[in-house]
Amino acid sequence: MKYTQKPSTQPIFSLRLTRLPLFLLGCALAARRTAPAQTPAPDAPQIEAKAHALGGKRTLEQKIDLLGGVDGMFTQPVPSIGLPRFKMSDASVGVRSWGPSTAYAGGVALAASWDPVLARRIGEGLGRDARARSVHFLLGPGVNIARSPLSGRNFEYLSEDPFLNAALAVAYIEGVQSQGVIATVKHYAMNNQEYNRHNVSSDVDERTTREIYLPAFEAAVTPGHGDAVMDSYNLVNGVHATQNDFLNLKVLKGEWGFQGILMSDWVATYDGVAAANNGLDLEMPSPRFMNAHTLLPAVKDGLVKESLIDDKVQRLLREVLRYGFLDRPQFDPADSTYSVADRAVALDGALESLTLLKNEGHLLPLNPAAIKTIAVIGPDAWPAVAGGGGSSETQAFQPVSILTGIANLLGDNVHLLYARGLPDENKVFRNTAWQGDVRVDTFAGMEFAGTPRVTNQRAIDNWKPAPWGIEDPHPQSIRYSAAFRAQRAGKYLLLAAASGEDAYKVIVDGKEVLSQPHNEGQVPQSATLDLAAGQTVNVVADYLPHAPGLRFGFGLSYEPELVSEEAKNFAALADVVVVAAGFNPSTEGEEHDRTLARPWGQDARIEAVAAANPRTIVTLTGGGGMDTRRWLAKVPALLDNWYPGQEGGTAVAEVLFGKHNPEGKLPVSFDRSWEENPSAPYYYPVKGADTSLHVAENGRPAVDYVIPHVRYGDKLMVGYRYWTTTGKHPLFPFGFGLSYTAFSFANLQAPASVQAGLIAPNGVAVSFDVTNTGSLPGAEVAQLYVSDPSTRVSRPERELKGFEKVRLAPGETRRITLNLDSRAFSYWDEAAHKWTIDPGKFVLRVGDSSQNTPLQADLTMN
Ligand code: BGC
Repeated sequence: MKYTQKPSTQPIFSLRLTRLPLFLLGCALAARRTAPAQTPAPDAPQIEAKAHALGGKRTLEQKIDLLGGVDGMFTQPVPSIGLPRFKMSDASVGVRSWGPSTAYAGGVALAASWDPVLARRIGEGLGRDARARSVHFLLGPGVNIARSPLSGRNFEYLSEDPFLNAALAVAYIEGVQSQGVIATVKHYAMNNQEYNRHNVSSDVDERTTREIYLPAFEAAVTPGHGDAVMDSYNLVNGVHATQNDFLNLKVLKGEWGFQGILMSDWVATYDGVAAANNGLDLEMPSPRFMNAHTLLPAVKDGLVKESLIDDKVQRLLREVLRYGFLDRPQFDPADSTYSVADRAVALDGALESLTLLKNEGHLLPLNPAAIKTIAVIGPDAWPAVAGGGGSSETQAFQPVSILTGIANLLGDNVHLLYARGLPDENKVFRNTAWQGDVRVDTFAGMEFAGTPRVTNQRAIDNWKPAPWGIEDPHPQSIRYSAAFRAQRAGKYLLLAAASGEDAYKVIVDGKEVLSQPHNEGQVPQSATLDLAAGQTVNVVADYLPHAPGLRFGFGLSYEPELVSEEAKNFAALADVVVVAAGFNPSTEGEEHDRTLARPWGQDARIEAVAAANPRTIVTLTGGGGMDTRRWLAKVPALLDNWYPGQEGGTAVAEVLFGKHNPEGKLPVSFDRSWEENPSAPYYYPVKGADTSLHVAENGRPAVDYVIPHVRYGDKLMVGYRYWTTTGKHPLFPFGFGLSYTAFSFANLQAPASVQAGLIAPNGVAVSFDVTNTGSLPGAEVAQLYVSDPSTRVSRPERELKGFEKVRLAPGETRRITLNLDSRAFSYWDEAAHKWTIDPGKFVLRVGDSSQNTPLQADLTMN
């Protein structure tokens, strides 16, 4: 069989640069620098007419049938008009849903590369992987702002900055769509936490919405021409995203002129009529609400206009025709299911993203010839941790762990030792030395009330996975009571774990120390108790199983004994130690937030290893900042590898041993503690502000949902905007990352004055030199920040408005020109509801992080 070559069949878009709002032009230019020219859009009127003709063949009921998905990951087929079903797949890390695939350095790792060219290549790779699996819609990129390091899906998203997100999203989408696959930008909008994601309302003022949370979506659908958007689970200002007229009608379809498909997240639709009237085109994964049962009478009663249904059908058919989905098979035999070329893209992604944060005394790069024995410690070292958990979890064909990467690089010349260093949870539960037995009171019902059945047992060690969504028809509540006597003085780890939707609370000497509400996932939780020798504490754990059976583990362990003797011995023996710490798919992922602290026991492990060997390098796996307070001063080197995709282990080894010079830059600020994060006071719902929502589904009884309100009181002060405005310093600033070489910046040139109304389409040119002053080739990310000191309103002290990554040989200088469009100088005027530039003084700053900007120039806006 012969298929038409992809480029000529691509419908897609032209960039139409000159007609873009100016800010978006900046993003498009950043992303476009190396992007090949796009094929022009096919004749739009012809497509419109054809789509109309196809849709017109349908009765109202048949049209309504097209508004909901089917079989989990497909649109509805309509055989009578020759419409097959169209296939979807997740895409934050790799093409997930259809067997093993290439797992790239996606999300936050991609953002750490600060490289739109890489974003474009990863997008193309994902597009090819999709075509090899007949996938029509990729459910990515995720572009939500990393407002807080706790948000469980930050690893799937990009950064804390709207400009960086916009530039990367545009390039990624162009890459995907250049392969004849529709990209779906998600989760629209203000989905910045996983906590209670179906019910929580993100309450955000319009200026913050426009300046921080929407620009990446705007860029994705305007210069990026992303052809699908996914509404998020949460509510925005009290209205679910899937029925939010401001987000969907006023902004997306109105101001941005979006002509593509607006779909719901999976089971994120809550009201069929409201969703139909407020912009939702496609309910996924099935028509629970936007169905004939609800919408036929609504149309008849004039509650929903038939023309609205027609518009939704037209949007689907328009994209189907534009992409040629009816004219060619989506499976393209030119694309491999297992692609060696895409493995190379995955490796480049990992290499570009690894971010070196500390390198005291130039411990790195390591010289293999000077090492006889290396110890690798920790569960993130093996097996490979390519990505976080949830719907993005991609099964890679051959993921390379850090341990394997180091072994491959060193061969047999160096002696390699590995230890996990910590026991597994059930061992802690089983080995807890309770004083006597644990008393178990089992009550009928969920209230811990009535006369319990009392039994005794030696340990609380029933932790095992449980199914989601299955309820126990005979609910019970269980109270465990026990006493624990500390043999020695010191720190004791208190560890608890339940499964599925179970809930629990742990009380020590009358004080609650741990609690896990329903629906917050299966991550073990811990606390530390400081106990005196001989001290006895009384512990009560109240456990509410959700599904039938018990799946609860709970125990205490003396911290110095947690870390295995083997790990300490290996560390002491070795010339150098690598501790691989952090998160993994079960501790960081969809449906639950995480803590700033890494999972239990890890601090103790790093401290024990560093005490045994001062040449200890820590590598961190995770979606953002972590608490490093207990040990950072005790280790000479720290490397963040994010979730590096399937080739991460090779990349880590190449960076540690200097085969690759690290070049990642932080896409998020790293806080010392959760309390100093600017969103901390506002992260959880405002007490007493809950409201409720009445939801009825297909004749089933109405349900009242309680809506907790999270007020984004941090407003514009997200990440570095907060740190630079307050003049305080985070642990590591946004944009920061070390290299094995050094760079300098010089000769900044920018116009001294500009007419606000006359900023050229290409923007205001800002030029400067970057020189590699060290002795190794390397890459630097030049960052341009704009300040508006004479503003009428309060603005963040500086904001990123341009960047470029350059690769330089030792001694080489490159002149860089970045263009600032009018949006670079604007803020959202709340009273006038538009972007506004205040005349007066602006300051342009250039450097290698949000806090190190050696070049500075004033510009007067007239
Ligand atoms: C996630 C989406 C994903 C969808 C389909 C949902 O749980 O929130 O991001 O695209 O599942 O897998």
